[in-house]
Amino acid sequence: MKKGMKKLVAVFMIMALTVAAFSACGGETDEEGTTVKIGIIQLMEHPSLNTIRESIVEGLAEDGYTDGENITIDYQNGQNDMSVMKSIVQKFVANECDVIIAIATPAAQAALSETEEIPIIFAAVTDPVDAGLVDSLEAPGANVTGTSDEVSAEMIMDLAKQITPEFKTIGALYSSGEDNSASVIAGLKEYAAENDLEVVESAVTNTSEVKQAAQYLADKVDVVYSPIDNTVASAMASATDVFNSAGVPFYVSADSMVQDGGLATYGIDYTVLGKETAHMVTEVIEGGNPAAMPVKKMSDMSIYVNTDTAKALNIEIPADILESATVFTSAE
Ligand code: TRP
Repeated sequence: MKKGMKKLVAVFMIMALTVAAFSACGGETDEEGTTVKIGIIQLMEHPSLNTIRESIVEGLAEDGYTDGENITIDYQNGQNDMSVMKSIVQKFVANECDVIIAIATPAAQAALSETEEIPIIFAAVTDPVDAGLVDSLEAPGANVTGTSDEVSAEMIMDLAKQITPEFKTIGALYSSGEDNSASVIAGLKEYAAENDLEVVESAVTNTSEVKQAAQYLADKVDVVYSPIDNTVASAMASATDVFNSAGVPFYVSADSMVQDGGLATYGIDYTVLGKETAHMVTEVIEGGNPAAMPVKKMSDMSIYVNTDTAKALNIEIPADILESATVFTSAE
């Protein structure tokens, strides 16, 4: 080995060690030096977001990008905390990640606040325009694009009418800190105004407030509705406890929230969403420009029902709904 070559190898080793010393986006260089560094920031751990992340990793593998082979994935949990998320993204930036994947709205907002250069592909952002992430769904315009899981309040209220037709008041249980919920709640209010229904709001700022917020609603309303809200999704056990014992049907907005004890929803398949997100990441790895890649919405939706919850509430789910629904049988 020539002297110059030795020096280069030494420099390389030091570089590899330095990179490995940082946890965020730490990656080694393979023989060709082409390992793509991907940082994943996930708002928090709850079943739906975990499903999304797992299916993104699977989708990337299907596209030929496997962690530890030609890509390195650095996964970080944002703990539902904006300052935690910002510092995670700062590390991704310092470590020169090639792509950032942001799962859920606040995670995508944290990512965009820290970099206008590194491509950010978001997953499951309910309303990317309202959240200030893109100029429009068709032409995002900057370094950010991804997938949306939007489901309108109206569609879920229509389902609610078929299952429990006699309601006049709707409790709205959601987190005031999530822009993904804010825009859907605005839609719920419009729907209520048009249909002569009343909305009673109960907003929380973190998971520990969910039980009390549910209790506040339980004796005031006929049914309760939650949008695709991360804070509520991670406290489903306390919410369903309250509503099931008070005999209040709890309509939710995601399959996982029905599996965790909500009565019913009309929603998308997050495994499919994860795969679609992965394909967009692949496109960017292969040279695509996020500014010109339209946000993808999921077109396939289905009904999800929890029959144990229905039983606890003494509600008979109409046969035609049951026939087409995906049924969950436990509140586990
Ligand atoms: N749509 C949510 C957001 O924009 C994220 C999300 C995905 C979610 N799946 C969910 C929230 C299930 C609650 C339940 O932040």
